[in-house]
Amino acid sequence: STPESYKINGVTYKKDEYSNIPQNILDKLDRNLHLLPSHPISILRSIVEEHFKDYKPLIPSSSIVSVKQNFDELGFPPDHPGRSLTDSYYLNKTYMLRTHTSSHEIESYKSNLNKWLLSADVFRRDEIDSSHYPVFHQMEGTHIWENQNLNQLSKLNEELENKLKECNILIEDETKINEKTNPYQPHHIPQHTDEIVRHLKNSLNSLIFRLFGHHAKKGGEPLKVRWIEAYFPFTTPSYEVEVFWQGEWLELLGCGVVMQKTLDLSGVPDKSGWAFGLGLERLSMVLFSIPDIRLFWTEDSRFLNQFKKGEITTFQPYSKYPPCYKDMSFWLPATTSSSSSVKEVEKDHHGASAAGGKLDLGQSSITSINNNTYKAFHENDYCEIVRDVVGDLIESVTLIDEFTHPKTKRKSKCYRLNYRHMDRNLSNEEVNELQDKVQKRVVEEMGIEMR
Ligand code: PHE
Repeated sequence: STPESYKINGVTYKKDEYSNIPQNILDKLDRNLHLLPSHPISILRSIVEEHFKDYKPLIPSSSIVSVKQNFDELGFPPDHPGRSLTDSYYLNKTYMLRTHTSSHEIESYKSNLNKWLLSADVFRRDEIDSSHYPVFHQMEGTHIWENQNLNQLSKLNEELENKLKECNILIEDETKINEKTNPYQPHHIPQHTDEIVRHLKNSLNSLIFRLFGHHAKKGGEPLKVRWIEAYFPFTTPSYEVEVFWQGEWLELLGCGVVMQKTLDLSGVPDKSGWAFGLGLERLSMVLFSIPDIRLFWTEDSRFLNQFKKGEITTFQPYSKYPPCYKDMSFWLPATTSSSSSVKEVEKDHHGASAAGGKLDLGQSSITSINNNTYKAFHENDYCEIVRDVVGDLIESVTLIDEFTHPKTKRKSKCYRLNYRHMDRNLSNEEVNELQDKVQKRVVEEMGIEMR
């Protein structure tokens, strides 16, 4: 039977209708990859900390935050899709696993620091493939000033720009203030905001050159960085930054001018400045050539021994063990008219793409079959069960077929589950056993019917 409460670090959280954290996620809470000295995630953290050397490094003591910290105080509207049970992990209706490091902005500003760099694990329910994992790591960096000191900024900016002139970097930036989509804040003096944005851009361009610039030798191809307008509830104007790497634009981070409300709630109403949030996994994957996000979680010394503190080296894959795939076809709960999956339209509810969007509380459309009630089918719920049963042996879950019965209008889906062990061979029996367990659980818990 399932316990009535979560007990984490000696604290008890009473479960309610929001509680949705499986054991495999709870097990990750004390891994702290970002603090293991020669782990790539931690190596990257140190390099960013070194780059922003007079910014105070901060590490939160727990991964649990209040819903107020993660969403309410940052201005996420009540119907923001990022809040849904299909996207976020809740201990109960009051506490959750943070979905981003921005949840620590207010407490950090409260401690009266003007520049800090906070690193932590973050948690989001998601699909399964080589670049998505429900636990990953972010760094939040900010720089704020007393409003009366903002005049000093233009000189600082000139210095930073002179340094950037030495770098072989090409910055594509057509962003501009747009009073409708990306406005100044009402009480801000536009010239001040312009200097804050300029300082934000200079600081991040220089960080990106530190991380990716080693190939952009003088006289060769420059490193290309692109700035794009974005939306976050807790910054305006807001931006996203991309870097051109191995033939593709890679999204690196979100950032912007800190919303006045955040600073007011922090007790520093007379300050303003910028903040950014940087995801460490995707960045490590390209910098260290790590092909699969699950490798970060392996305890195999063939992985861990390859990395040294302070160095970005290329990962030499040890032999890749063979994959094994199994398909699973099933009918969705009979009276569910559609999958009502917001996810299919908007991939990431927490980021910039989540500006608007429909409400999907996960439990909002309920179907009744044989006196059992089931939620509308949501791919994240399916993936969660797969992860809970299979753990890190699952490499990807892909929808390969969808079908609506012409007469009954019932919908069916077929998913391909691709299994692969990072460290050894898998036997067919072992995989069949896992596949059976997954089938059993999804039938029991999601009300679907195998074909
Ligand atoms: N928290 C945002 C995210 O996770 C990133 C961000 C941080 C944006 C700080 C603006 C300012 O997508």
